[in-house]
Amino acid sequence: MTEDGLFKDLQEIRRDLHSRPELGFQEVKTRAYIEEKLRGLQLEVREAGGGLVASLKKGRGKTVALRADMDALPLQDEKDVPYASKNPGVCHACGHDGHMAMVLGAANLLREADFAGEVRFLFQPAEELPPGGAQAMRKAGALGGVDAIFGLHLDPFIPFGSITLREGPMMAAADRFEIHIKGKTGHGAIPHRAVDAVVAASEAVGALQALVSRFTSPLEPLVLTIGKIQGGTAFNIIAGEVEMIGSVRTFNPGLRDEVPALMERVLKGVTAAHGAAYTLQYTRGYPPLINHPEEARLVRDTVETRWGAGAVQILEKPLMGSEDFAYYLEEIPGCFFFLGSYRGGEGISWHNPRFDFDEEVLPRGARLLEKIALEYLEKGRERGRG
Ligand code: NI
Repeated sequence: MTEDGLFKDLQEIRRDLHSRPELGFQEVKTRAYIEEKLRGLQLEVREAGGGLVASLKKGRGKTVALRADMDALPLQDEKDVPYASKNPGVCHACGHDGHMAMVLGAANLLREADFAGEVRFLFQPAEELPPGGAQAMRKAGALGGVDAIFGLHLDPFIPFGSITLREGPMMAAADRFEIHIKGKTGHGAIPHRAVDAVVAASEAVGALQALVSRFTSPLEPLVLTIGKIQGGTAFNIIAGEVEMIGSVRTFNPGLRDEVPALMERVLKGVTAAHGAAYTLQYTRGYPPLINHPEEARLVRDTVETRWGAGAVQILEKPLMGSEDFAYYLEEIPGCFFFLGSYRGGEGISWHNPRFDFDEEVLPRGARLLEKIALEYLEKGRERGRG
């Protein structure tokens, strides 16, 4: 396929998808569109966990997967372009339309390529909407027999066509909690006949910060934020109930596991001192995204070989954002990375109603995904021989 042909093909796909975005877990037309494209490439396609899995097999060898996410965001598209969203209040403002086009492009290129093994293409729903689509696809067996998985995200803030990545922890786990403190409502002037939930909650807010400062290692990042607190009814009534909601961010999976029990310990002690009661509801969001060293190196080497050493920037520190690609990496090796998608001036942020990218990135990303898959399968063959 010529470069120009590839560009035009992917631009058309991207614009089709961009003009009819759908929200997470509602990607019905998007899925039908992708399925038709995949069948057009004569790939085996099946539905899995609300997404699609397509497979391209040539001979015996390893299996490598490439993943794209399909969902858009609840935003009104503010771009003045012919391919702007026709769906009011819904917009591909995170570049997932580009991800789908690039993975389809890679599938097309790989069809013509020479390799031994299988390439699996995953199109998952709802990356933006916890619990996310990755878990459902994993449970539906999308990763069955897959040896490694790779995925990318467009990034408007790094130089066009370059990539950033990190071996090991790259993105945070994001959990959510709700605390309910129950005291006894009473007269504001007669505190000893009441149990003041506001005073108990105030102490709990301060005491919970000891998780960060005293109960866990200072060398492991942990954020505990109470984002909302609500209780009481009037100036002269002692509040019988307080609700608090918040977020916990971690990178270390062991530390993440410890947090709910430590919170219980603090809440139990503080509320007991006041004669109050509590409940803690802790909901785990996406796990930390941890890139496997060997696969991260493969991505880095592939990019450096093709685009030069300057095209790879290693992130010194992880990012506090989260990504449900992390679920795949919990099960099998792989690597997730960012691909610079904006040219000329300051990029417009993800999740902004004017977010867009330079479409020249589409063939570049598709070729890169193709090469990553081929490199992986080739390495597997060498290992098999050795
Ligand atoms: Ni995104």
